[in-house]
Amino acid sequence: MPIDDLPIVLDRSSEVPLAVQVADALRDAASTGVLRVGDRLSSTRELAIRLGVSRTVTASAYDQLLAEGWLAGRQGSGTFVTAAPAAGSSAVAPSSAGRPADGPPATSMIDLTVGRPCLHVLDKSAWRRAWRAAADRPPSALPSYQGLLEFRQAVVDHLLRHRGLVVSPEQVVATSGTTSGVAELSALLPERAVVAMEEPGYQRAAGAMRAAGLRVVPVPVDREGVRVDALPAGLAALYCSPAHQFPLGVRLSARRRVELVRRARQESFLVFEDDYDGELRYDVAPLPLLAALGPDVVVHLGTASKLLTPTLGVGWVVAPPELTRRLLAARSRAGTRPAPAGQLVFTAFAELGDLGRHLRRLRKELHERREVVLAACRAAGTPVWGDAAGAHVRVPLPSAEAERAVVAAARDAGVVVPALAEYHAGAPLQFGISVGYAEPSRADLATAVAVVAEAAAGWRGPVGH
Ligand SMILES: Cc1ncc(COP(=O)(O)O)c(C=O)c1O
Repeated sequence: MPIDDLPIVLDRSSEVPLAVQVADALRDAASTGVLRVGDRLSSTRELAIRLGVSRTVTASAYDQLLAEGWLAGRQGSGTFVTAAPAAGSSAVAPSSAGRPADGPPATSMIDLTVGRPCLHVLDKSAWRRAWRAAADRPPSALPSYQGLLEFRQAVVDHLLRHRGLVVSPEQVVATSGTTSGVAELSALLPERAVVAMEEPGYQRAAGAMRAAGLRVVPVPVDREGVRVDALPAGLAALYCSPAHQFPLGVRLSARRRVELVRRARQESFLVFEDDYDGELRYDVAPLPLLAALGPDVVVHLGTASKLLTPTLGVGWVVAPPELTRRLLAARSRAGTRPAPAGQLVFTAFAELGDLGRHLRRLRKELHERREVVLAACRAAGTPVWGDAAGAHVRVPLPSAEAERAVVAAARDAGVVVPALAEYHAGAPLQFGISVGYAEPSRADLATAVAVVAEAAAGWRGPVGH
């Protein structure tokens, strides 16, 4: 915030000298992050004029903060904020988003939460290049409800190269990410319609569907993926994650894919195919996308959140034409559309060849990390499932008690790892923990998975599907 906008309010009736009040206000602004390290302050003369005080007052306040180390003066270039906010101040307390509220402080923990991207392999100069290229594009006066054409073309290329799906730019709709895509699509279904959801599954998608007034029914998942034979009649849609089921990690078998599309056609329901990490696969052949098998009934949802970062806010949908038309009409009516900035960055990253390079590096890195996890589990004699794809695996456990004990033992050893219970809407059907291996450093990962594998190894018994 420029210092001209700082709300410095002086109390002229107070016994506290004005110079102290000015210094206090600036110190507060720096310690709460309103002023940031590197921010340039106005000259003492300009500030004195703005506040209606003598220059002696502002000079004395600056002198005080210079002495305390909050500010530094550079010859000829002004006065700058130098001190970072004090550790422990609320404005900079480390975020604990996504962790249990009763968890220990985030800073000391190694986090194996599922669904995080692996930013270690992101080439920072390529990333900056993409942002610069995006900034070079002149702004447009008109909003784009479908998404920028060049972005949709980049998605077309990506889907063709990395997912084997042939579509045209007209079929692609930009989103702010998969979850918001599910929310928008759910709003197009009749209110109170019944939709099926994998159990366990991605509860944010279930939340988005419920928020749209839909009735969400759970469908079990086994080693072949979602149980198509267990789908109830009368569905408006099914949400599933066939490439690497979230959170169990299984891949929907080819047989079930065909059966699912057949039933969707016969019973006229939609299939939401959440392909959140479909680009990541190890030592196994690709399976056909549901969208390739049934473009008339399947809504394919992709995202940059796992490949790059969720902070980009970029995703895409390929849906049957009539649904696409209704989605765009709803956006146009409400005036809502995904922000184009992230689309431009994604496009530039892809067009400059950096997305392809990044994906190659990412696959290699995650493949090696997966080996770290498997080796630790092998050494402890702990079984691992769901390791053929994605960036997380499942360690099966025999009971809820085992699950709680392993999560607690991990936490005591400084490791956050999610229990499968977290991904169930109802009473858990399967027990275990999900181990995300994308986010920590390699060294932390090795330490953390050894802890988890050891803790899980103590629990033997039948482990469900
Ligand atoms: C199963 C699943 N689908 C989709 C997403 C991506 O969501 P978004 O694109 O909204 O960031 C996530 C992110 O955690 C996820 O776990």
